[in-house]
Amino acid sequence: MNEQILKNTNAKLLDEFNASINFDKNLYSQDIKGSLAHSQMLFLQGILSEDEKNKIHKGLEQIKKDIENGNFEFKLEDEDIHMAIERNLTKIIGETAKKLHTARSRNDQVATDFKLYIKEKNISLMAQIKKLLFTFEQICKNHTETLLPGMTHLQHAQPINLAFHLLSYVNMFQRDFKRFESSNQRNDTCPLGSAALAGTAHNIDRFKTASLLGFKTPCANAQDGVSDRDFALEILFNISTLSMHISRISEELILWSSYEFDFIKISDEYATTSSIMPQKKNPDVPELLRGKSGRIYGNLFALLTVMKSLPLAYNKDTQEDKEGVFDSVKNIELCLSILDEILKTMQISKENMLKACKKGHLCATDFADYLVQKQNFAFRDAYYLAKDAVAKADSLNKDISDLSFEELKDSSPKLKSLASLNKEVLTCLDLRNSMNSRDSYGGTSSKQSKIQIQELKEWLEQN
Ligand code: ARG
Repeated sequence: MNEQILKNTNAKLLDEFNASINFDKNLYSQDIKGSLAHSQMLFLQGILSEDEKNKIHKGLEQIKKDIENGNFEFKLEDEDIHMAIERNLTKIIGETAKKLHTARSRNDQVATDFKLYIKEKNISLMAQIKKLLFTFEQICKNHTETLLPGMTHLQHAQPINLAFHLLSYVNMFQRDFKRFESSNQRNDTCPLGSAALAGTAHNIDRFKTASLLGFKTPCANAQDGVSDRDFALEILFNISTLSMHISRISEELILWSSYEFDFIKISDEYATTSSIMPQKKNPDVPELLRGKSGRIYGNLFALLTVMKSLPLAYNKDTQEDKEGVFDSVKNIELCLSILDEILKTMQISKENMLKACKKGHLCATDFADYLVQKQNFAFRDAYYLAKDAVAKADSLNKDISDLSFEELKDSSPKLKSLASLNKEVLTCLDLRNSMNSRDSYGGTSSKQSKIQIQELKEWLEQN
């Protein structure tokens, strides 16, 4: 390569390295919205004439149409969406376009565009979560009587109903919803008019621009306005937590669809076959829902790292804020709608869930509680008697809930000699009675689960 070619190649590489147009073109509508508001404010302040403002508005509307109809050429030389739009505006309306950038800089412009984008995404993600919660409500309504083993340490623990189980996820997704909402409330400040870093000498009205763009107030410090990316970190964190919740439920769907559990069948559309094992049906889609959390957490950590030692105010490093956010948003939108479909289309086997309740002596605690409540035992003594009953059941290859009264009495000398113990004790060993006995607020009883569903219904009406 001769020197000239090398120079040109390097220049091209540098252009590519420096430019953000390939991804920040995603922000074209927010950029145009910001420019419309900015020029309107400049007009109201007497900085632009009405004619100039009208020309600029017409040109910007034209550019929006061109971009949406695919008639806009994004060029690397334009570097970013802000320059691309300004240059095209100049082409369309001529000299007047050059006045648009009065009292602003790309620093406040990009912060505003990105904030507007994230604000919109917080709202649309909330709508998607709400849709998912409606699906949960529909499923829960039919399953307040569907027994399954509640687990701790992935070991059978106590009987619960399926609605109660799913309502745990409902609570997670409700918190997610509130996180997106509160992030929007916290970040409802407009950077536009911060200019490069220190504000401007032009007589602008930042309150006007903020209100035209739907922000509550302008951000209070221009330097913070151009360098703050907390709102981007927040959406990345909120999406990360949401994706962690999606990953957790996906893990359960994967387990539940295995032969070992056989609680659900995932609809064929969301499972795939193996290229070698003809009998296989793999839960690829929930596995991907689980796996997506990796890149989503990565995007959060990438931006935290970019931001951690930036001196004030704007630094080009922050150009690295966008791709991760776009990626996390795109993937979480997909995850939310796919999870919704999987839940709607999966088949639930009440029989197998019930069968699983017959393993692991789920009512052992109930037996101990019964001895405390009805036979005046101290809990620790009752605990050991229940342990004996479990051992007895194991020796007979039965579950504690299937022991006869005689077998139960036979489980320890103390019980055998306990004259006041009668057949009523068997009621506490019934799985359904056990589930319904946990009737404390927030508990698993069918009654409490119905109350939780009612609370969900009211929440959905209010939010
Ligand atoms: N493309 C830039 C970004 O995304 C826009 C702001 C550039 N400002 C500057 N002074 N170079 O951050």
